[in-house]
Amino acid sequence: MSNAELSVLGFRMRAATEAAARAAYDWIGRGDKVEGDRAAMAAMRAELANLPVRGTVVVGESGSDGQGDDGTSLLAGDVIGAAGCPAFDIAVDPVEGTSYLARGMTNALAVLAMAPQGTLFRPGPCFYMEKFVGPPAVRGRIDPAMTVAQKLAVLARETGKPVHDLTVFVLEKPRHRDLIQDIYAAGARVALYPAGDIAGALMAAIPDSGIDCLMGTGGTPEGIITACAIRSLGGVFYGRMNPQLNGERMAVKDAGIDTNRWYAAEDLARSDQVVFCATGITTGLLLQGVERQGRSVRTETLLLCGEGSGRQVVSNWQPVAPVSVAASGAGMPQP
Ligand code: FBP
Repeated sequence: MSNAELSVLGFRMRAATEAAARAAYDWIGRGDKVEGDRAAMAAMRAELANLPVRGTVVVGESGSDGQGDDGTSLLAGDVIGAAGCPAFDIAVDPVEGTSYLARGMTNALAVLAMAPQGTLFRPGPCFYMEKFVGPPAVRGRIDPAMTVAQKLAVLARETGKPVHDLTVFVLEKPRHRDLIQDIYAAGARVALYPAGDIAGALMAAIPDSGIDCLMGTGGTPEGIITACAIRSLGGVFYGRMNPQLNGERMAVKDAGIDTNRWYAAEDLARSDQVVFCATGITTGLLLQGVERQGRSVRTETLLLCGEGSGRQVVSNWQPVAPVSVAASGAGMPQP
């Protein structure tokens, strides 16, 4: 497909993240991340079925192999869309930042990425991945095996910013205690977020966004989705499987996966025909969240269609849907 055709596909694809975001809206700040995620997932799946592609889910909700298709979930292995349409791999995250959604906090997104069939990395049993993401200026200049101080020195040299002006996005997790100390010791700032490393990674790849790079360990599924976005945006992405859970460590070892190997964006998304879209659920680093304005619901979506095609932000106003079960209070968890 040409970039122009990918743009048309991306423009249609955004209906799926917009629908997920609108469905999740009713669950903002209600303390229930499971139902919010489920509502977003069902809405995303319904829209995906309308796209002119035959999609195989390779990154689903659990990021592992599917356990059957119930018609509303999006599990790895599910196939959506009509036979005969162009075949794509699909990576979904109907709510990226389920805790943000449940707690009514900023930064929850609905996210979707696609690439031609067979080109997206299958996460298998790998749940956690160590990541480095940086802007286009450091392309070809970073060795992922460098120390934190060395990476920051390269970043400073290539962006023309002193190290003490650099800000590193890090997930606020106990596993990052040493990493954070290393960043402080090198003289840079740390922006600590409890969740949401897809948004952090995109900010890291966008020059002058306020985030200069991302370091640390987050989800492998999120890493694959991020790799699609970085292929389109430009910038640098490296990821290395870094199992954190006991069962995960064993499964990764049994599968013979090399935890020392660093994957570049081009290894995780092996095509330049990538399409990525993210719609804000709650307002955050990257996008405005869903807003009800009179009889309309406004969404804001970031669209990346093909390598080097730039980024578009699309606002969409849709008529308010009838009051849902969640908004009416019926079916809500009782205190
Ligand atoms: P959810 O949307 O599933 O809540 O995940 C959000 C997230 O913070 C990701 O952005 C990140 O990659 C991953 O979780 C990190 O996982 P963990 O919170 O287990 O460290």
